[in-house]
Amino acid sequence: MTDNITWFSGIQIVPGLFTVENLSFAQNFLMKDDDVILVTYPRSGTHWMIEIVSLILSKGDPTWVQTVNSHTRFLWIEDKDSQKLLKGPDRPRLLATHLPIHLFPKSCFTSRAKIIYIIRNPRDVATSIYHIRKYTPNVKIPKNFEEFLNAFIHGELLYGSWFDHTLGWLTRRNTENFLLMSYEELQKDLRGNMQKLCQFLGNHLSPEQLDSVVQNSSFSVMKDNKMSNSIRLKNPEDETDSNVPLLRKGRCGDWKNHFTVTQSEAFDKIYQEKMSSLDPGLFPWS
Ligand code: PPS
Repeated sequence: MTDNITWFSGIQIVPGLFTVENLSFAQNFLMKDDDVILVTYPRSGTHWMIEIVSLILSKGDPTWVQTVNSHTRFLWIEDKDSQKLLKGPDRPRLLATHLPIHLFPKSCFTSRAKIIYIIRNPRDVATSIYHIRKYTPNVKIPKNFEEFLNAFIHGELLYGSWFDHTLGWLTRRNTENFLLMSYEELQKDLRGNMQKLCQFLGNHLSPEQLDSVVQNSSFSVMKDNKMSNSIRLKNPEDETDSNVPLLRKGRCGDWKNHFTVTQSEAFDKIYQEKMSSLDPGLFPWS
């Protein structure tokens, strides 16, 4: 269902997004002990977490998130523009990636770099990607949700299979310097999860500073902040730029408005088969 793409080690190479050379750079990238890297499958709450961590590091002061784009605050290790900046001496670094574990920098696992991994109900992830897909240059738009869901289930997407991504990354869950969070828990108890995050990052915030982090990372504030709610994508064919909005509905359970009963039952069956090796208690969805 995609045009103009090739595959590399389970993920798609879409012209204009990244190249095999960019992936090789990422894999060989030297991680340092004081790096913090946010890892997610797409549409799992990456930009929400970028905002939260940015605000925690600013002790709740919103100036940084209001004046600097999220893609400058956090550099994407597979992104060609970020990669130019990653060669510079800036430390400590805030990094982000959607890469599956087998394409991640090997050096990370021998460093003390901190990894934050966010999971989200794959049904909501699929729904969110379905809506954002129309903005991705060089990717064929699915005819309908059925066709898209089929591609999602078979991992025929930019970053490959959600199942492989999640199973791969969760092998790290009991290692030091790895924090597992979920979109659903953030929705349920943002403040409590921020405290967990502060502890993980080694930052102490006063109750007032935490209040400010909660307020400034809310869906409505982020949606109105153009530094947080847009990404610039260049179409490699005509070199035009477009501003893609990142925030959409910001809710749990929107999948119920998209999946039919039959699709939901079929998805459940595949989910249970693929995820059977993990304790269902790890996931805040059924
Ligand atoms: S991306 O483009 O792949 O990096 O997307 P990502 O940032 O991982 O995830 C986008 C989804 O996160 C929602 N979002 C939020 N939800 C609640 N509160 C806040 N503050 C927030 N910020 C981003 C965003 O709306 C996308 O989910 P959907 O379901 O599409 O709304």
